[in-house]
Amino acid sequence: MRVDIYCLLYYFFCLCYYKISGFIIFFMSLGGNVIMKEWYKELVVYQIWPRSFCDGNGDGIGDLEGVLSKLDYLQDLGINCIWFSPLYPSPNADFGYDIADYRDIHKEYGNLDLFKQVLDGAHQRGMKVIMDLVVNHTSDVHEWFIKSKDPSSPYHDYYFWRKGRLGGKLPPNNWLSCFEGKAWEKDEKSGEYYLHVFAKKQPDLNHDNPKVRQEVKDIMKFWLDMGVDGFREDVITFISKRKGLPNGIPLPIGCGIEHYMDGPNIHKYLGEYREVTDKYDCFTVGEAPMMTPDNALKYVDEKKKELDMMFHFQHIEADAFLIDFLQTKFKLKEMKKAFTNWQNKLNGRAWNTLYIENHDHPRIISRYGSEKYRVESGKMLANMYMLQQGTPFVYQGQELGMLNTRLDSIDDYVDCFVKNNYEVAINKLHMNKKKAFEFAVKSTRDNSRTPVQWDDSKNAGFTTGTPWFPVNKNYKQINAKAEMADPNSIYNHYKKLIKFKKENEVAKWGDYKEYYKNSDKLYVYSRSYNGKSMLVINSFSPERVPFEAPKGFDLDKGTPILCNYENNFVQQNGFKLRPYEARVYLFD
Ligand code: NOJ
Repeated sequence: MRVDIYCLLYYFFCLCYYKISGFIIFFMSLGGNVIMKEWYKELVVYQIWPRSFCDGNGDGIGDLEGVLSKLDYLQDLGINCIWFSPLYPSPNADFGYDIADYRDIHKEYGNLDLFKQVLDGAHQRGMKVIMDLVVNHTSDVHEWFIKSKDPSSPYHDYYFWRKGRLGGKLPPNNWLSCFEGKAWEKDEKSGEYYLHVFAKKQPDLNHDNPKVRQEVKDIMKFWLDMGVDGFREDVITFISKRKGLPNGIPLPIGCGIEHYMDGPNIHKYLGEYREVTDKYDCFTVGEAPMMTPDNALKYVDEKKKELDMMFHFQHIEADAFLIDFLQTKFKLKEMKKAFTNWQNKLNGRAWNTLYIENHDHPRIISRYGSEKYRVESGKMLANMYMLQQGTPFVYQGQELGMLNTRLDSIDDYVDCFVKNNYEVAINKLHMNKKKAFEFAVKSTRDNSRTPVQWDDSKNAGFTTGTPWFPVNKNYKQINAKAEMADPNSIYNHYKKLIKFKKENEVAKWGDYKEYYKNSDKLYVYSRSYNGKSMLVINSFSPERVPFEAPKGFDLDKGTPILCNYENNFVQQNGFKLRPYEARVYLFD
């Protein structure tokens, strides 16, 4: 009898244990912080757009020799991963995003041996290296495309070749290219059209063809076997097109996109590519235009990851309608809403990327900050995005506070996207030329693609030759040498910030909470982790703005760090923030 009671008690305890632990897991998954601490979540990634980074051989074009010479600079900055924008052979219709050979290095940049030296050099310095994987399209000079022009070739079905409508007079459907005119180009010899959702020289690959998917897997293996640590996957959510390629909603921009964004087989194809990367100790980050956090979870949820992280565009569109060219007034509230939404929705379920500048957008100080308050606003913007939860990405020159450029005429620009937008604005939206040019100057990708300013010598120390694209005229004042020498520079702020982000547990793993949601001048949030917290205060205003510490934060008890004005302020819970002031307080 006694034994039975013990048995009963034992069963009772077991039941309670399982119920309680079940509840704990249930509540944790509801909103608690169940973050898997994978290594890629502790990286700070630096993006190199090779053509403009550093020229090692004096031909005016950035190259791998130049990169080799700057590995110590990158290590000193504290970054621990490099993302290379395309280094592959390319006719440069879209500066490398039109690839002619996936298994080689462009002659302008060096060769595979030199790349291996860079890879080893980076690894020796504790830095990972990821490649850009551009497989939505190839270049039109890729051998697959050249062979595919023959309708009887096995490569024909590597691309989307279709007969035109009206006996070939009209393209197969009404889709528009994101970069230039219609999304179809006719091959006069065969009379068929091929699809290009980007530039004419970027024909789309047909991932419905298993042979194409095998090629992609082989390309991934090629680089992973060489030792690279992962991929940034270009417009990867565009790779599955709707069957039959039906007409799109007839809009002047982006017509047809609804038939290839998150297409019908996207998860199947990404699942297959994931099987390759799962065999290696690597990570992937996918580029996903028009992505929402709910949709993103279908790709990056910890429980079923097709990608480890995702670049979305919602926060950077706070001053534009769909594309940077269509500018609107900058609305801080929209930017905050997007950041907060991604922070909250992904927390504990997936991992965010953190970026505000890259090779596709203008420079952030000119865009969201102030050139007049360059140093203050540059540091504030850095704190603002990097101290959120996620893996931060820094774009070359961002750490130097580089600014937008201004050239004299549209013909001086080289970005195919801006040239197309300028034409569309004039011819379809009936904008006058002057206004269209101003929109172009502000939005062009060329703004972030000017050569990196290393010092105040000729051509900013970027090259001993003639730079392929004009160096920004402000290089005498803004350059790495000057930035490194000044303890209060933007560069030295990034250096401190990167170190802090890599080392501080709250900055890495903490939960996020936003305050002052309705302010169009202040962006204030806190992070908390294991009983510690951090308050991040950012002013986006050139004026003084009154500030009251949010309830529960006594600034007297906090430790101020990473501020962008001298730390001469009296600790109070209510005060006026100075132009673009940024303060961070830590609480134990
Ligand atoms: C996104 C890349 O970031 C951009 O530079 C490129 O032009 C398009 N994808 C097309 O590859």
